[in-house]
Amino acid sequence: MVRMLKDALKGVISQEEVTQLYGGFDIVGDIAVIKIPDSLLSKKKMIADALMKHVKSVKTVLMQTTPVSGKYRTRSLEVIGGEQRTETVSKEHGCVFKIDLAQAYFSPRLSTERLRIAELVKPGETVTNLFAGVGTFSIVIAKKVPETKGYSIDANPAAHELALENIRLNKVGDRVTAMLGDAREVVEQVKGEADRVLMPLPEEAADFLDVAVKALKRPSGVIHYYTHVYAEKRENVFDEARKELDKSIKADYEVTAQRIVREVGPRWYQVVLDLKVSTDASS
Ligand SMILES: C[S@@+](CC[C@H](N)C(=O)[O-])C[C@H]1O[C@@H](n2cnc3c(N)ncnc32)[C@H](O)[C@@H]1O
Repeated sequence: MVRMLKDALKGVISQEEVTQLYGGFDIVGDIAVIKIPDSLLSKKKMIADALMKHVKSVKTVLMQTTPVSGKYRTRSLEVIGGEQRTETVSKEHGCVFKIDLAQAYFSPRLSTERLRIAELVKPGETVTNLFAGVGTFSIVIAKKVPETKGYSIDANPAAHELALENIRLNKVGDRVTAMLGDAREVVEQVKGEADRVLMPLPEEAADFLDVAVKALKRPSGVIHYYTHVYAEKRENVFDEARKELDKSIKADYEVTAQRIVREVGPRWYQVVLDLKVSTDASS
């Protein structure tokens, strides 16, 4: 991505200015999404045109004008080049995802994590995703491990509609069920069924640990717990994540794996802890 930006914007803005764009640039399907600092706003059209000229597959350039925020984890976007749209189709791991970048959360930066989880799932498992977005994790799992069952829960009606469509597009409707609503309420329909629960909502996962435990089978199961951690030193990241988890979880657990998914700001990290959780004593 850095190389692509450097090459596309050579002679358009200075190399020093290009460095200001590094962290905020993604390509999703045929759309480029870019965060542009105030100092470069007057050059946004030139930046968009140069990107489309250099990367032929890019048909639209969107400028992200607000951070990802709110319950539905969406952001405001402005078309600064190409076709007036926010919908696209993204391909990963043999799956296709219809996406509307303005209406529902999607990040290509979670692609490696989606594959990592799919590779942990064993045939016969039921996997519940409490915060499923447009269905990505559940669909990758269903494609990679066909003998599984998935529940894909999301509170955002637009994300839910896209999940239904993505389930159809990927022909996994016999294995994945999309469910619309707040995870805390929807879990009542699927409680005690999951071998594995995904919690890809790092900002709030700690508040939903009781919901995740409720979703799991007895006597034990796996939770993939995502969180954001601030750490002065990178080597302290997992200690910080475990401290926070200890305060929130009400069941016995052991951490079987831990990983920094990505850096989300200076000294801020998105972390995943894989937990083997004992559900015997939980209600
Ligand atoms: C970070 S996104 C999920 C990303 C997704 N797993 C992916 O790979 O693209 C978090 C999602 O959680 C949903 N969400 C937030 N609060 C929720 C809740 N209480 N119940 C169900 N879904 C919720 C949002 O609508 C959003 O789609």
